[in-house]
Amino acid sequence: MLDKRVKPSFIVKYLDQYVIGQDDAKRTLAVAVYSHYRKIELAKRDSIDIAKSNVLLIGPSGTGKSLMCETLSRVLGVPFVTADATSLAQTRYVNEEIEAILKRLLDKADGNATRAQHGIVFIDEIDKLRGAGGAQPSMSGESVQHALLKIMEGSQVRLDGTQYLDTGNILFICGGAFVGLDDIMAKSQTYGFISASQDDDQSILDRLNSRVKPTDLFQFGLIPEFTGRLPIVARFQELTREMLVRILIEPKNCLYRQFAEIFRNEGVELSVERQVFEQIADLALEYGTGARSLRGLFEELITPILYAVPDHPDVRKVEIASLFSEPRLLREA
Ligand SMILES: Nc1ncnc2c1ncn2[C@@H]1O[C@H](COP(=O)(O)OP(=O)(O)OP(=O)(O)O)[C@@H](O)[C@H]1O
Ligand SMILES: [Mg+2]
Repeated sequence: MLDKRVKPSFIVKYLDQYVIGQDDAKRTLAVAVYSHYRKIELAKRDSIDIAKSNVLLIGPSGTGKSLMCETLSRVLGVPFVTADATSLAQTRYVNEEIEAILKRLLDKADGNATRAQHGIVFIDEIDKLRGAGGAQPSMSGESVQHALLKIMEGSQVRLDGTQYLDTGNILFICGGAFVGLDDIMAKSQTYGFISASQDDDQSILDRLNSRVKPTDLFQFGLIPEFTGRLPIVARFQELTREMLVRILIEPKNCLYRQFAEIFRNEGVELSVERQVFEQIADLALEYGTGARSLRGLFEELITPILYAVPDHPDVRKVEIASLFSEPRLLREA
């Protein structure tokens, strides 16, 4: 199961190398995963049943939800598969699709059912399953929720005729942007709002007040049984300009490093002024798709240079000072 060395702080440190910001979500997710595996151990040892706590990740598009789950899967060393709720909603054979997800989990565990039964399933775009409670009534969305509910609660699912998989200890992480949830929450906060006295810690109050309640999710269009199966909610914040800049230059595999490496292979040093990253971040903020537009913007900047450089073997260094001025190609003296 989970390696003894994998503690919550260890998980967060690993996530920090690839995911910028979202500290609350990182901690929530790390603790959720950690306690999930400790619970299974305790349940085995003392043969008592401890209820499983699946996780819901909520946040605007392009703020790192999928990235965080992919990164998490690498550090945990347990079988991990990703599925997309939209495609579940589009098929007429939901149960077959769900079986296919579990089959992939089994494959990831090299066919070892015990390992697969301790794996993690990430279901993205879960907000697309909103039912009649939401703005776009969709019967199929609700029926997918019911189908998912069965495996999230834990059941014996038959795969390929003879093999069974018990989903009771599989951790489910669901993710979605939940556009419009804030409006629902703002309305529901008119009562039950936790009021502050002078010496209360404002950050703790903010956290309590920004808690997503099951009733909010119900209003959004998830069925109550489904929200009840997702007791842990981690919220992702909109990315700031500063965070967007850091995303370009800090993560181990960030865009800047990737391209610097390509140039290095050509014997060319790539030097980009900080201002350029800030200009890219400003444009990305305008586009409003989180960090998603960073790649396109950066590639647009680099493409003409990458076109020219291989034709000029004497170029040693490329200097980019601004998004709005020509890059300088420095040649061998
Ligand atoms: N916090 C972050 N740190 C580093 N990179 C990020 C972060 N957020 C987003 N990115 C970059 O943006 C890309 C898109 O992010 P991601 O796929 O995780 O978004 P998402 O939150 O799942 O959005 P959606 O709701 O649209 O699925 C990532 O591949 C990554 O390159
Ligand atoms: Mg995503």
